[in-house]
Amino acid sequence: MILAGRGGPSDSQAPGYYAERTVAGGEPMSEAWTEGDTVALVRAGAPALLVRLARGPQKVGNEGVLDLTELIGRAPGTGITWLGTAYRAVRPSLSDLLGSLRRGAQIVTAKDAAHLLYLAGVGPGATVAEAGAGSGALTVALAYGVGPLGRVISYDRREDFLEAARANVRRAGLEARVSFRLRDVASDGLDATDLSSVVLDLPEPWAVLSSARSSLMPGGYVATYTPTYNQLERTVRALRDLGFDDVRAVELLERGLHVGEGGTRPAFEMLGHTGFLAAGRRVD
Ligand SMILES: C[S@@+](CC[C@H](N)C(=O)[O-])C[C@H]1O[C@@H](n2cnc3c(N)ncnc32)[C@H](O)[C@@H]1O
Repeated sequence: MILAGRGGPSDSQAPGYYAERTVAGGEPMSEAWTEGDTVALVRAGAPALLVRLARGPQKVGNEGVLDLTELIGRAPGTGITWLGTAYRAVRPSLSDLLGSLRRGAQIVTAKDAAHLLYLAGVGPGATVAEAGAGSGALTVALAYGVGPLGRVISYDRREDFLEAARANVRRAGLEARVSFRLRDVASDGLDATDLSSVVLDLPEPWAVLSSARSSLMPGGYVATYTPTYNQLERTVRALRDLGFDDVRAVELLERGLHVGEGGTRPAFEMLGHTGFLAAGRRVD
């Protein structure tokens, strides 16, 4: 429907291209939209615009008013026109979600977040604890990774960071999967049990590893993210001392490529050092 000359779903654009190619954080990609879903409005050459699906007109940032009521019950991929521009309404990808975060604390980059999920064994249905929440970038990636049946407990010792992370998780539409806890996990430990994974992005991960080990189920993983060699050494020593198995450490360097017929080459600048990742597994 068009509101005051603005846009709404258009019947001329059938579901298709995007519905087949986007991912949905666990919901079946083709499942019809329901109220409360997070919709990514996408068009070529622009970042996705995230909107919570509601009945009636709603303000979208400072850009105007949009009414998506007619999307409810329709399939992802439906076309809409808003402010004279054509969009597809699709389920947000992780890249859409991370691209629309508001930043406060230094956030984990996408390359590191993806590998932390791999190292920590995070997948659909996992029960994960993370500390600290910071801006919630890693929280969003974890909540996306565990899917609708998984759970994330996110700790921070600062209320303002918890609030920032909570706002970003809500913006991503993933709040049903995450509970936030105000706690200094270095001094007080984790107050959770039977976890499948623990992910630590704070300055002193070694101080949390003993508690993390007790909170993990046998077979569960802990993964850490620290910016300096000194922190990495201390973390890996603690992982070994505490009897974690399969201890690994890795750094990921991301180099973009300029691709053109006959002229493909690496970009001159690259995303070099961000942080070191380490992980270990509780086996007994
Ligand atoms: C670098 S930020 C985390 C960024 C976050 N992973 C993200 O992607 O947005 C580190 C966070 O750890 C929190 N923190 C530091 N020490 C802590 C502790 N002992 N217990 C709980 N949180 C802690 C800080 O308050 C801060 O919010």
